[in-house]
Amino acid sequence: MKISALRREYSRMSLSKQEIDPDPFRQFHIWLNQAIEVRVEDATAMSFSTVGSSGMPSSRIVLLKELDDQGFVFFTSYESRKGEELLVSNKVALLFYWKELERQVRISGVAGKISRHESASYFNTRPLESKLSAVISPQSQPVPDRKWLESKWEEAKLKYELKQPEIPDTWGGYRVKPIGFEFFQGREYRLHDRIRYQRQNKGWTVDRLAP
Ligand SMILES: Cc1cc2nc3c(=O)[nH]c(=O)nc-3n(C[C@H](O)[C@H](O)[C@H](O)COP(=O)(O)O)c2cc1C
Repeated sequence: MKISALRREYSRMSLSKQEIDPDPFRQFHIWLNQAIEVRVEDATAMSFSTVGSSGMPSSRIVLLKELDDQGFVFFTSYESRKGEELLVSNKVALLFYWKELERQVRISGVAGKISRHESASYFNTRPLESKLSAVISPQSQPVPDRKWLESKWEEAKLKYELKQPEIPDTWGGYRVKPIGFEFFQGREYRLHDRIRYQRQNKGWTVDRLAP
Protein backbone atom coordinates (compact mmCIF):
# COMPACT_ATOMS: atom_id res chain seq x y z
CA MET A 1 0.00 0.00 0.00
CA LYS A 2 1.43 3.38 -0.98
CA ILE A 3 0.85 5.89 1.79
CA SER A 4 0.33 8.59 -0.87
CA ALA A 5 -2.79 6.66 -1.95
CA LEU A 6 -4.36 6.84 1.51
CA ARG A 7 -6.99 9.54 1.41
CA ARG A 8 -10.39 10.37 2.85
CA GLU A 9 -12.83 13.23 2.72
CA TYR A 10 -13.37 15.52 5.70
CA SER A 11 -17.02 16.51 5.69
CA ARG A 12 -18.54 16.22 9.13
CA MET A 13 -18.88 19.87 10.16
CA SER A 14 -18.13 23.47 9.29
CA LEU A 15 -16.88 26.61 11.02
CA SER A 16 -17.54 30.26 10.16
CA LYS A 17 -16.66 33.67 11.60
CA GLN A 18 -20.39 34.20 12.25
CA GLU A 19 -20.82 31.15 14.43
CA ILE A 20 -17.46 31.19 16.21
CA ASP A 21 -17.25 32.76 19.69
CA PRO A 22 -15.42 36.15 19.70
CA ASP A 23 -13.42 34.88 22.69
CA PRO A 24 -11.02 32.08 21.65
CA PHE A 25 -10.93 30.64 25.19
CA ARG A 26 -14.71 30.18 25.10
CA GLN A 27 -14.47 28.73 21.60
CA PHE A 28 -11.76 26.33 22.82
CA HIS A 29 -13.96 25.21 25.72
CA ILE A 30 -16.82 24.48 23.29
CA TRP A 31 -14.57 22.31 21.11
CA LEU A 32 -12.85 20.56 24.01
CA ASN A 33 -16.23 19.73 25.58
CA GLN A 34 -17.46 18.35 22.26
CA ALA A 35 -14.31 16.20 21.96
CA ILE A 36 -14.92 14.85 25.47
CA GLU A 37 -18.64 14.27 24.72
CA VAL A 38 -17.90 12.18 21.63
CA ARG A 39 -15.33 10.28 23.72
CA VAL A 40 -12.19 11.25 21.84
CA GLU A 41 -9.57 9.27 23.72
CA ASP A 42 -7.02 11.55 25.39
CA ALA A 43 -8.97 14.65 24.31
CA THR A 44 -6.72 16.68 26.62
CA ALA A 45 -3.50 15.42 25.02
CA MET A 46 -1.63 18.21 23.25
CA SER A 47 1.61 18.49 21.36
CA PHE A 48 3.88 21.00 23.11
CA SER A 49 6.76 22.49 21.12
CA THR A 50 9.79 24.36 22.36
CA VAL A 51 12.94 25.72 20.74
CA GLY A 52 16.38 25.10 22.19
CA SER A 53 19.59 27.11 21.89
CA SER A 54 20.42 25.53 18.51
CA GLY A 55 17.14 26.88 17.11
CA MET A 56 15.96 23.31 16.54
CA PRO A 57 12.31 22.86 17.57
CA SER A 58 11.21 19.80 19.57
CA SER A 59 7.71 18.53 20.26
CA ARG A 60 6.20 16.06 22.67
CA ILE A 61 2.75 15.18 23.99
CA VAL A 62 1.68 16.45 27.42
CA LEU A 63 -1.73 16.44 29.12
CA LEU A 64 -3.72 19.61 29.70
CA LYS A 65 -4.61 19.69 33.40
CA GLU A 66 -6.05 23.16 33.96
CA LEU A 67 -7.53 25.78 31.69
CA ASP A 68 -8.72 29.23 32.63
CA ASP A 69 -8.72 32.66 31.01
CA GLN A 70 -4.99 32.97 31.84
CA GLY A 71 -3.90 29.91 29.91
CA PHE A 72 -3.22 26.21 29.48
CA VAL A 73 -1.50 24.34 32.34
CA PHE A 74 0.42 21.05 32.21
CA PHE A 75 2.85 19.38 34.63
CA THR A 76 6.33 18.04 34.09
CA SER A 77 9.92 17.98 35.31
CA TYR A 78 11.58 21.39 35.31
CA GLU A 79 14.87 19.59 34.56
CA SER A 80 13.58 17.78 31.47
CA ARG A 81 14.61 18.72 27.95
CA LYS A 82 11.50 20.91 27.64
CA GLY A 83 12.39 22.54 30.98
CA GLU A 84 15.91 23.28 29.74
CA GLU A 85 14.63 24.64 26.44
CA LEU A 86 12.14 26.91 28.18
CA LEU A 87 15.08 28.59 29.90
CA VAL A 88 16.36 29.53 26.43
CA SER A 89 13.03 30.65 24.99
CA ASN A 90 9.59 30.87 26.56
CA LYS A 91 7.95 31.04 23.11
CA VAL A 92 6.02 27.83 22.57
CA ALA A 93 3.33 26.14 20.50
CA LEU A 94 0.50 23.80 21.48
CA LEU A 95 -1.46 21.60 19.12
CA PHE A 96 -4.62 19.61 19.76
CA TYR A 97 -5.83 17.09 17.15
CA TRP A 98 -9.29 15.57 17.54
CA LYS A 99 -9.38 13.08 14.68
CA GLU A 100 -12.98 11.96 15.26
CA LEU A 101 -14.18 15.56 14.80
CA GLU A 102 -11.76 16.37 11.94
CA ARG A 103 -10.48 19.29 14.00
CA GLN A 104 -7.19 20.75 15.11
CA VAL A 105 -6.42 23.78 17.28
CA ARG A 106 -3.05 25.51 17.07
CA ILE A 107 -1.99 27.82 19.86
CA SER A 108 1.11 29.97 20.08
CA GLY A 109 2.08 31.65 23.30
CA VAL A 110 4.55 32.13 26.09
CA ALA A 111 5.14 29.64 28.89
CA GLY A 112 5.97 30.35 32.52
CA LYS A 113 6.10 28.34 35.74
CA ILE A 114 2.97 28.36 37.88
CA SER A 115 3.21 28.95 41.64
CA ARG A 116 4.58 26.25 43.98
CA HIS A 117 1.26 26.28 45.77
CA GLU A 118 -0.66 25.56 42.56
CA SER A 119 1.78 22.79 41.57
CA ALA A 120 1.65 21.17 45.01
CA SER A 121 -2.17 21.24 45.01
CA TYR A 122 -2.17 19.22 41.82
CA PHE A 123 0.72 16.92 42.83
CA ASN A 124 -1.14 15.96 46.00
CA THR A 125 -4.12 14.71 43.96
CA ARG A 126 -1.96 12.24 41.96
CA PRO A 127 -1.99 8.51 42.73
CA LEU A 128 0.94 7.42 44.92
CA GLU A 129 2.43 5.37 42.07
CA SER A 130 2.65 8.43 39.79
CA LYS A 131 4.06 10.55 42.60
CA LEU A 132 6.82 7.99 43.07
CA SER A 133 7.72 8.11 39.37
CA ALA A 134 7.98 11.91 39.54
CA VAL A 135 10.20 11.59 42.62
CA ILE A 136 12.66 9.05 41.19
CA SER A 137 12.75 9.84 37.45
CA PRO A 138 15.48 12.20 36.20
CA GLN A 139 13.27 12.98 33.21
CA SER A 140 15.09 13.19 29.86
CA GLN A 141 18.46 12.03 31.30
CA PRO A 142 20.07 8.78 30.08
CA VAL A 143 19.65 5.91 32.58
CA PRO A 144 21.49 2.54 32.64
CA ASP A 145 18.42 0.38 31.93
CA ARG A 146 14.76 -0.29 32.82
CA LYS A 147 15.82 -2.33 35.86
CA TRP A 148 17.60 0.72 37.30
CA LEU A 149 14.39 2.72 37.10
CA GLU A 150 12.26 -0.05 38.56
CA SER A 151 14.57 -0.61 41.52
CA LYS A 152 14.62 3.17 42.26
CA TRP A 153 10.82 3.11 42.17
CA GLU A 154 10.60 0.06 44.49
CA GLU A 155 13.03 1.72 46.93
CA ALA A 156 10.86 4.84 46.96
CA LYS A 157 7.75 2.72 47.48
CA LEU A 158 9.26 1.31 50.68
CA LYS A 159 10.52 4.70 51.81
CA TYR A 160 7.13 6.36 51.38
CA GLU A 161 5.05 3.46 52.68
CA LEU A 162 3.74 5.39 55.68
CA LYS A 163 3.98 8.97 54.49
CA GLN A 164 3.29 10.13 50.92
CA PRO A 165 6.12 12.06 49.21
CA GLU A 166 5.99 15.84 48.94
CA ILE A 167 6.25 17.50 45.56
CA PRO A 168 9.88 17.40 44.29
CA ASP A 169 11.52 20.83 43.84
CA THR A 170 12.24 19.87 40.24
CA TRP A 171 8.63 19.11 39.33
CA GLY A 172 5.69 21.42 38.66
CA GLY A 173 3.44 23.13 36.20
CA TYR A 174 3.82 25.56 33.32
CA ARG A 175 1.08 27.83 32.07
CA VAL A 176 1.01 28.72 28.39
CA LYS A 177 -0.53 32.16 27.83
CA PRO A 178 -1.81 32.29 24.25
CA ILE A 179 -1.09 35.12 21.83
CA GLY A 180 -2.74 33.33 18.91
CA PHE A 181 -5.18 30.53 18.18
CA GLU A 182 -6.19 28.81 14.98
CA PHE A 183 -9.26 26.59 14.82
CA PHE A 184 -9.27 24.19 11.87
CA GLN A 185 -12.30 22.23 10.72
CA GLY A 186 -11.73 19.67 7.95
CA ARG A 187 -14.06 20.16 4.94
CA GLU A 188 -14.85 18.41 1.69
CA TYR A 189 -12.36 18.59 -1.22
CA ARG A 190 -9.66 19.92 1.17
CA LEU A 191 -11.49 23.29 1.21
CA HIS A 192 -11.08 23.40 4.97
CA ASP A 193 -12.25 26.10 7.40
CA ARG A 194 -9.48 27.92 9.26
CA ILE A 195 -10.28 30.70 11.72
CA ARG A 196 -7.39 32.59 13.29
CA TYR A 197 -7.43 34.78 16.42
CA GLN A 198 -4.56 37.17 17.11
CA ARG A 199 -4.22 38.95 20.42
CA GLN A 200 -4.49 42.76 20.19
CA ASN A 201 -4.29 45.30 23.01
CA LYS A 202 -7.97 45.02 23.75
CA GLY A 203 -9.19 41.60 22.75
CA TRP A 204 -8.72 39.56 19.61
CA THR A 205 -8.85 40.03 15.85
CA VAL A 206 -10.44 37.21 13.90
CA ASP A 207 -9.62 36.20 10.27
CA ARG A 208 -10.47 33.38 7.97
CA LEU A 209 -7.36 31.80 6.43
CA ALA A 210 -7.15 29.97 3.12
CA PRO A 211 -6.86 26.23 3.52
C1 LIG B 1 -0.42 10.55 25.96
C2 LIG B 1 0.84 11.11 26.58
C3 LIG B 1 0.74 11.98 27.64
C4 LIG B 1 1.89 12.53 28.25
N1 LIG B 1 1.74 13.45 29.24
C5 LIG B 1 2.84 14.02 29.80
C6 LIG B 1 2.72 15.05 30.77
O1 LIG B 1 1.61 15.51 31.12
N2 LIG B 1 3.87 15.55 31.31
C7 LIG B 1 5.10 15.10 30.92
O2 LIG B 1 6.10 15.59 31.45
N3 LIG B 1 5.25 14.16 29.98
C8 LIG B 1 4.15 13.61 29.39
N4 LIG B 1 4.30 12.66 28.42
C9 LIG B 1 5.66 12.27 28.00
C10 LIG B 1 6.24 13.33 27.06
O3 LIG B 1 5.69 13.18 25.76
C11 LIG B 1 7.78 13.28 26.98
O4 LIG B 1 8.22 11.98 26.66
C12 LIG B 1 8.43 13.72 28.29
O5 LIG B 1 7.76 14.81 28.90
C13 LIG B 1 9.89 14.11 28.07
O6 LIG B 1 9.94 15.17 27.13
P1 LIG B 1 11.25 16.09 26.97
O7 LIG B 1 12.47 15.16 27.03
O8 LIG B 1 11.10 16.73 25.63
O9 LIG B 1 11.26 17.08 28.09
C14 LIG B 1 3.17 12.13 27.78
C15 LIG B 1 3.26 11.28 26.68
C16 LIG B 1 2.12 10.78 26.09
C17 LIG B 1 2.26 9.89 24.87
